[in-house]
Parts: sequence; structure tokens; C-alpha cells
Amino acid sequence: MKIRYYGQSAVQLSHRNMSLIIDPFLTGNPLTQVKPRNIHVQYILVTHGHFDHIGDTLKLAKQNRATVIAEYELAEYLTRQGVNTFSMNIGGPAQFPFGSVELTQALHSSSIIQAKPFKITYTGSPVGFLIRMAGRTIYHAGDTGLFLDMKGVIGARNRIDVAFLPIGGVYTMNPPQAVQAAKWVRPKLTIPIHYNTFPVIRQNPNRFVASLRKNGLRGVVLNPDQSMQI
Ligand code: NI
Ligand code: MN
Repeated sequence: MKIRYYGQSAVQLSHRNMSLIIDPFLTGNPLTQVKPRNIHVQYILVTHGHFDHIGDTLKLAKQNRATVIAEYELAEYLTRQGVNTFSMNIGGPAQFPFGSVELTQALHSSSIIQAKPFKITYTGSPVGFLIRMAGRTIYHAGDTGLFLDMKGVIGARNRIDVAFLPIGGVYTMNPPQAVQAAKWVRPKLTIPIHYNTFPVIRQNPNRFVASLRKNGLRGVVLNPDQSMQI
């Protein structure tokens, strides 16, 4: 399977002729050079309603006739914007042509904020994703603080190949908290996300990976627009 990172929380997973993208924030994302018109996917997974996660979801869904997989309230909101959705909630997995998706808890908030006139639309619970595809299990934590069920529920019940964990701090876990998360989730490989997109979430991802190594865990930094095979 090929994984490609676009900065912030945007991650694309591809295998043979199937491709999906998680939290496709490209327009307005200072870390990526990739334009939405160059993204070809059948599915779009969105962790929560914040602008740096919904990103180009509507444009990509329309351009690709893709299906958006999201938590119930967020999916209802997106349906009314004219795109195909598959709504889920935290619990058991749903099956798709590429594999399965399970929504996990994320300790965060979820809303869509309109500036003028000011309006906040709440969009249900924020989530992470457990994705099974091409014989691999991928955990994308979404935006979240540290929570103990990373150990007892997510880590203990799954053999995770790759975990994408936010390290930016302020809105999510910071690097020491994300090291704790990796110790609980115990993935074969940890990839840091949600940092350096904005000044307030500036972090050194190489120091984070070094700190993982000191704890006997493997991590890798993917630069924006870089991809790797797993
Ligand atoms: Ni957020
Ligand atoms: Mn965010």
C-alpha cells in the first residue's frame, strides 16, 4: 500500500486501483504544493468539522464522485451540501470495496464555523479512524488529546501497522503526550501529523521520532507531499 502525506492531517492511502484520502486540507494549506484537481480518490474520510480537516472535501467529492465517510451529524451536514456520504458512528466497522473503516473516540470538538454572519454548526463527535486495507491496519487519530482507551480499546484490540498521531500541541497532543499515545497504541510505525502548518503548532518532528526510538518504538517523518510504501 502507498501512503502519501500532504501536511496537517491529510493522508492518502492507495492500493491497486483504490484510493482514499483522510482530512483533505489542500487549499490554504501552506505545506502542500498539490492541487485538489490532482487528487483522484473513490472515498474521502473526514475526522471532524474543523476547516483544517474538511478542507477540500466538497470539491473533491464532486470532482471524483467520491463517497464521504464521516460521523453521523457531519455526514448529514455534507449530504445537504450535495455530496454522497456514508454515515457511521463510534463502534463497529463498516465494509467498503477497499476494506473496512471503524470510527474511534477522539477527545476534541467538532463544528463548522461560518464567519459572516457568525454561526457555529455543531457536527457531532470528532473521531479517529481504524482502516483495514490491503492486509494492513492503519490508525489515524484525528485531532485528539491523550486518552487511556488508546491502550485498553485501540491498542489492545488491534495490531496496528501504522499510526498517524497529532503532535502539534495546543489543539491536540504535544510530542511527549504523543509518545505516550504510541506506547499505548503500540503500532509498528508511528508517523507524526498536525504540526508546522501554523506558527502556534510549531514542533520538531525529528525530535519526536528520536524520543519514540528511546522508548523502543519506530517512527518516521514524512515531509509534505512525500509518499512511502508500507
Ligand atoms: Ni480540530
Ligand atoms: Mn485540526
